[in-house]
Amino acid sequence: MSGPDGGGKAWGGRFDGGTDKRVEAFSESVSYDRRLFRHDIAGSIAHSRMLAAVGVMTPAEADAIARALKEIEAEIESGKFAYDISKEDIHMHIESALIARLGDTGRKLHTGRSRNDQVATDSKLWTRDALDRGDGLLVGWMQALVRAGRRHQNAVIPGYTHLQRAMPVLAGHYFLAWVEKCHRDRGRLADCRKRLNENPLGAAALAGTSLPIDRRMTSEALGFDRPAANSLDISSDRDWAVESVFVLTMIQLHLSAWAEEWILWTTSEFGFLSLPDAYCTGSSIMPQKKNPDVLELTRGRAARVIGDLTTLLTLVKGLPLAYNRDLQEDKEPLFDAFDTVEACLALAALITDGARLREDRIRARIDEGYLDATALMEALIKRNIPQRSAHELVGKLVGLCERKGCRLADLSETDLKAVDTRLDGSLRDELGVDHAVAGYRSEGSSAPGEVDNRLAHWEQALGLAKAAK
Ligand code: ARG
Repeated sequence: MSGPDGGGKAWGGRFDGGTDKRVEAFSESVSYDRRLFRHDIAGSIAHSRMLAAVGVMTPAEADAIARALKEIEAEIESGKFAYDISKEDIHMHIESALIARLGDTGRKLHTGRSRNDQVATDSKLWTRDALDRGDGLLVGWMQALVRAGRRHQNAVIPGYTHLQRAMPVLAGHYFLAWVEKCHRDRGRLADCRKRLNENPLGAAALAGTSLPIDRRMTSEALGFDRPAANSLDISSDRDWAVESVFVLTMIQLHLSAWAEEWILWTTSEFGFLSLPDAYCTGSSIMPQKKNPDVLELTRGRAARVIGDLTTLLTLVKGLPLAYNRDLQEDKEPLFDAFDTVEACLALAALITDGARLREDRIRARIDEGYLDATALMEALIKRNIPQRSAHELVGKLVGLCERKGCRLADLSETDLKAVDTRLDGSLRDELGVDHAVAGYRSEGSSAPGEVDNRLAHWEQALGLAKAAK
């Protein structure tokens, strides 16, 4: 391993010889942490400007450093920058390229800083951007869900518990259920961003520094809310990585459950939903197949994000203060979790926009499963029959329907009276899914007015022009 002065020279004066090549290959991180280059350069420019402001270098030196770092950034962007694992990580690569350009001026950049606080700073800056991207993608999926809710607003679909038909709901209500989950996820992203947004820079290796650095200045320059308070904490802190990946896991669990539901809904057993061809694949042997692969992969990739979270949790569980090299292992799961969730969210929005509820097919079977049984029970309650008795009576009626092979609405006055003399034919007016849905009253229910209001709320909140009804 060579220091930033390069040339195969060992790690500064303390070392006599070079690092074993096998150790270099084993311990390098540049193959993946190169993704941090923009944030590393932003951090170094802020750091050098601060060093100039406190008189540790001259403004001319800070200018030269900023200019050279921008050139290095352009070179990395162009793909011409040469990587060499003997320089371990992206931080050493950039510093060494700087020294190659500026000599002693470049050698001043690392004053009052260690790679420990530098790595934490760069990774936090990267993660902050990634959280913002994730938020934007979540909004994109929410918008698509709201559009789907408006598109199918008043279609009555079965609501399920235990995957058994339970009570009827409006499709608008169904789509908004996912919107609420996403909204909580957005809240979690925002909370996580808030806690993350404290500046590690200036913790130096672990104890701070005797040099007159100004951590408030770098905080402001890098958009951090304040300097993080304790240098020992800072160089060991990966809470923000664990928390970010937990939030991503929560998002991916929502995506996975949604994908599972839609996979079921596209089966001929359900037949509720058709997906755009562009997001499905065929089979090489069964010509009729149209498989919901993107949804299946979305469900499958939850395993991967949970794995990333598990890796991070396990990584930090036994680390003494402060920095330990184990922490280098945080980046791959962090990057992987963001890459996975971002890709799934982008496709979820496209699929949601392209999917169509098969309203006719849903309607054709909506009378199966006694979806109006609860409405009937509540009608009895409104006629002063206590809930437990009403439940019992409707249970008996359902049993009768099962034996006769009919709907509740098909029972005759005689059938009803035979079960209980308080029942009469007028109860039939309370039956049917449309009647049941129209009867919902409570806040947050699938009442048509409530659903319409919530759709309008989300259209407004998510910047969607109110869709034509
Ligand atoms: N490549 C390492 C990482 O990403 C740099 C850590 C530097 N600190 C150290 N004490 N070796 O974590």
